[in-house]
Amino acid sequence: MRNLVDKWFKRLIIINIILVFIVVIAGSVVRVTDSGMGCPDWPKCFGAYIPPTSEDQVTWHEGEDFFEGQMIIHEEKLYNAKKDLTASTSFNSAEWEEFTKHGYATYNPVHTWIEFINRLATVALGFPVMAMFALSLFYWKDRRARTYLSFAVVFLVGFQAWLGKLVVESNLKGQTITLHMIGVFAIFGVLLILLDKARRTHGETTFPDSKFKLWSSISLYVTVLMVVIGTQVREQIDAIAKTTADRSLWIDQVDWMFLTHRTLIYVIVAINGYLLYQAFKNNWYKSRWIMIAVIIIAEAVVGIILAHYGFPKAAQPLHLLLSTILFALQFDLLIQLRAPKAIAYGS
Ligand code: HEM
Repeated sequence: MRNLVDKWFKRLIIINIILVFIVVIAGSVVRVTDSGMGCPDWPKCFGAYIPPTSEDQVTWHEGEDFFEGQMIIHEEKLYNAKKDLTASTSFNSAEWEEFTKHGYATYNPVHTWIEFINRLATVALGFPVMAMFALSLFYWKDRRARTYLSFAVVFLVGFQAWLGKLVVESNLKGQTITLHMIGVFAIFGVLLILLDKARRTHGETTFPDSKFKLWSSISLYVTVLMVVIGTQVREQIDAIAKTTADRSLWIDQVDWMFLTHRTLIYVIVAINGYLLYQAFKNNWYKSRWIMIAVIIIAEAVVGIILAHYGFPKAAQPLHLLLSTILFALQFDLLIQLRAPKAIAYGS
């Protein structure tokens, strides 16, 4: 029985990690295509579980049936039906409640469906997260940390969903989006700690020294700093994008944040280059450092394309995705490096 629990617990952690990546990509596509307000309400979309597919469905028409809670756009305002009703000859405001959380009353089916698929991805994450927590209860007696950590993931995913609601209700305020991003990193972090606990073995021949561990920590902190500065750049870009549609003009309007972001790549290359060299010299987590190096190079190339080749749309989610992969690889390595030797060798 314990073996089966061990096996499925580990599988569920990996499934959750993959799903978090998918949620990150979906969220990024939402931002790039500007679909965040595709559903004006939350958790339903235009008051329904399956969103409308045509403008007709969100417009008031004489003689039409509307269900309780259904949302329509009428004279550039959003309204919810107070009860199931059949519209009479003119719009009767007594039957409708104005939706006042924000004033964004536009219907665009593409935006609505992109946002809806994003929400489905988040809901899809909810199930394996709950299943993981349920299985973690088997560890309550002797490995309680797994239960606590699994609960932390449930809590964080719930928190993210609530934050998602705030993002929609605040009509996508920058800081809320950044907080959302930090939340994703926290989920990753806890899942990776859990994966480490479930794995507890690796095939290294020697165990890295404390200097290597220290610089591995520093390299992770610099990545986090890079991500935080990157999200600030992104917030500025979002604001600039509202003033001009010519993407090639965007980067010149960002302040010193972008210069800092761009310059920090040299620090990242230097630290990680040193660690890669040490890894090869001493046979310490070589394959992991190759992966990290490849991701950093790819991230820098995509960043340069963004900045100097007119901000291609597809490069934006890719840049974000690569940064989350980099964080995950470095954080996971650090957990392994920090484990006491005996545990790391699989006792
Ligand atoms: C390891 C290196 C790097 C990391 C971890 C990183 C991380 C990030 C992150 C997390 C964002 C925010 C993305 C978002 O919120 O959608 C961002 C934005 C950005 N980064 Fe980087 N970045 C790196 C290197 C670079 C380099 C070398 C350049 C250019 C020379 C660059 C240019 C940009 C630009 C232009 C943005 C704004 C993108 C947008 O508005 O969608 N980045 N970066």
